[in-house]
Amino acid sequence: MAQIIGGITTSHIPAIGNAISKELFDDPYWVPFFEGYPPVRDWLADSKPDVAIVIYNDHGLNFFLDKLPTFAVGAAPEYHNADEGWGLATLDPYPGDPELSWHVIESLVADEFDITSCQEMKVDHGFTVPMSLFWPNRKEVGIKTIPVCINTVQHPLPSPSRCYRLGQAIGRAIESYDKDLKVVVLGTGGLSHQLDGERAGFINKEFDLMCMEKIVSDPEALTGYSIHDIVRLAGAQGTELILWLAMRGALTGTVSKLHGNYHIPISNTASGLLLLENAA
Ligand code: DHB
Ligand code: FE
Repeated sequence: MAQIIGGITTSHIPAIGNAISKELFDDPYWVPFFEGYPPVRDWLADSKPDVAIVIYNDHGLNFFLDKLPTFAVGAAPEYHNADEGWGLATLDPYPGDPELSWHVIESLVADEFDITSCQEMKVDHGFTVPMSLFWPNRKEVGIKTIPVCINTVQHPLPSPSRCYRLGQAIGRAIESYDKDLKVVVLGTGGLSHQLDGERAGFINKEFDLMCMEKIVSDPEALTGYSIHDIVRLAGAQGTELILWLAMRGALTGTVSKLHGNYHIPISNTASGLLLLENAA
């Protein structure tokens, strides 16, 4: 059977993508950020997952305000990247696993999550930046991907509680797949940030650190917040926290934190990193 070996969260700030392209790994501005990642890459190299379920939000590349599904799951043989306006280099396509995608889609719909299935899906920085951070050598490793896209862009957004339960349903879907695959679940985005309006630049370190602790030890505690609570506490784009909660929901076993990092400022955003192991 397929097995979820762990979950990883990271911010997906586009500036990181440019810093990677320019190899700014030793630049003093970037060191406190990049130094968080080697332990995660080492863990991935040791544990060798076959598939990454990437829970992220599209920022106007594949979906726009005219048509915006609440939950969408990729079912394509590969996923193409393009730049939706941040000036990032276009990266090579990411291999998919359509058979596992369809299993997840069927299982989610049977579980009463009415999602949009996408046999074509372009992936933006919300997907690609974390993939570059975790698998700089992704072609050698051959990691397959399943994009799971949650709307954090146009209100109404799904509640934290709904996203946590979606994650639990993804966990059940993976664990009922009869191939011996190792699966890792990524939750991208966050932490506190607001990119525009009167509160542009808003960061709430105390709230971020509380979330990073609770998401490990007591994720249910975060499901009591409404989306508007999160906007108030973490900024308009801090709602990306729901992507982290969906990741956490998928970890159904005994969860232990192996590594974490928190750093401000990266661009306008407090960046957070967590590596969680999921023991059966
Ligand atoms: C930034 C953060 C994001 O999450 C994003 O999607 C785009 C930009 C930023 O901090 O610049
Ligand atoms: Fe974002």
